[in-house]
Amino acid sequence: MSLSIRPATPDDRNTLAGLAYDTGYFGDSASRYFPDRELFAAFWTDPYLRGGLGNLIALRQPDSRSGEASMQPVGFIVGSANPARYRRGLLRAAPLLLSRLGRPDTRRSLRYLLRAARYPGPHASDSLYPAHLHLNVRRDARGLGAGTALLRAHLNLLREAGVPGVQLSTTTENVAALGLYRKLGFRVADERETPLWQPWLGRPARHVVMTRSLLED
Ligand SMILES: CC(C)(COP(=O)(O)OP(=O)(O)OC[C@H]1O[C@@H](n2cnc3c(N)ncnc32)[C@H](O)[C@@H]1OP(=O)(O)O)[C@@H](O)C(=O)NCCC(=O)NCCS
Repeated sequence: MSLSIRPATPDDRNTLAGLAYDTGYFGDSASRYFPDRELFAAFWTDPYLRGGLGNLIALRQPDSRSGEASMQPVGFIVGSANPARYRRGLLRAAPLLLSRLGRPDTRRSLRYLLRAARYPGPHASDSLYPAHLHLNVRRDARGLGAGTALLRAHLNLLREAGVPGVQLSTTTENVAALGLYRKLGFRVADERETPLWQPWLGRPARHVVMTRSLLED
């Protein structure tokens, strides 16, 4: 696969929102637990585009048999290195949430938000690891190196910006992700069983926080 990585800009908002939504449930569509697509973007994409660091998109050369002319977005990584700014970005989704409470898809999505507030995942030190990230690759492009390329490029941008460390949240359901993160130097800092996704997954999951110092290399 011929792959290229480029910075994501505010003009990529819909592309990023689409990639994030289509892969937002353990790599499958977030529609299962969060049917309100627009609200999903307000929480999972917009805060990074407003003040994030190292936001990147992976594109692949179109398959000549598909008739497509342009490069196809197949994956993304977004991050923030400023926890306070990120939290302010999240709060900006609140008015949209309130304005959409009359919609059935919003009310069904609210269930997840309330559960996420009730069952927060483990978190590492914000002073040692101020950055965090989200990374996903479309199913039909996995296992071909896009995740590795995105994460390597993102870590280089964090280093260049002088960020001391990065953390991320994942689960033991994300088997490929755990392999990728370990390969690039992340270590499990804490983990705990969580019922957060039980209504959709049918079982508890193990919530894992992984950290990577950027001072040591
Ligand atoms: C995790 C993910 C981003 C990796 O992207 P990718 O492009 O498939 O990854 P790569 O091809 O670069 O492979 C990177 C590493 O991941 C691991 N990996 C990839 N596919 C794997 C699989 N099927 N099983 C186990 N490990 C796997 C390996 O460690 C691999 O390194 P290696 O090829 O040197 O052995 C992608 O699989 C994905 O989006 N998965 C679903 C959503 C998800 O879990 N996102 C992360 C949320 S925290």
